[in-house]
Amino acid sequence: MGAPHTDAPGVLATQGTESAGVTGGSGFVLWFTGLSGAGKSTLAHALAPVLRERGCRVEVLDGDAVRTNLSKGLGFSREDRDTNILRIGFVANLLARNGVAVITAAISPYRAARDANRRLCEGDGSAFVEAYVAATVEECEARDVKGLYAEARAGQRIAFTGLDDPYEEPAAPELVIPSGRETPAASLGRILAYLEERGLIRPAHPCRDRSSPQSPRPEDSR
Ligand code: ADX
Repeated sequence: MGAPHTDAPGVLATQGTESAGVTGGSGFVLWFTGLSGAGKSTLAHALAPVLRERGCRVEVLDGDAVRTNLSKGLGFSREDRDTNILRIGFVANLLARNGVAVITAAISPYRAARDANRRLCEGDGSAFVEAYVAATVEECEARDVKGLYAEARAGQRIAFTGLDDPYEEPAAPELVIPSGRETPAASLGRILAYLEERGLIRPAHPCRDRSSPQSPRPEDSR
């Protein structure tokens, strides 16, 4: 099998020849859900290169990107959102069952559609990890990176999730990420630790500084 696609090959990507795919050759789906502006895309795109360094083949299915391609033309009614989410789940499952680590980042506001995707992926033998990016409306609105909350408040956008459209919190997500109270680096660390615990990714190699022999520091010899 060829080497994995790696945007930025690093020390870890060069270790061993079994680095294509994840443990056992089976992929998984890491499904971020949460309000617009909660930090789903930031986490997804920060995580992808780290997983590649661990030898995973990775694809990110980002809500905004999907809506300009696969789901172009869909709106924000419940029906359209469900169609969008089920499409993402369908593609995620195809990729995961071929050994890809799939990271999705769409609001996915309805529990039933998320659960349907879980059943699809798990039924096909891939782990489905639901990661709830649990920023509050207030936190997301305070950041309002895209200015969409302001537009929605001004009546220029209707059915905006968290304002006048529902968001159904996951009942039992594998991970909860309080992005308003935790740095992205801390969140990434917890996500990686969870994926390692589940055996979905290989542990990182020990830090070179710690493994390399060092001469004693002056205070050690006192
Ligand atoms: S989902 O509901 O179908 O999962 P998705 O994640 O694909 O939504 O798209 C949400 C993105 O579309 C938001 O991050 C925001 O940029 C934009 N958007 C535009 N209108 C709305 C709306 N009414 N509600 C939520 N997001 C909207």
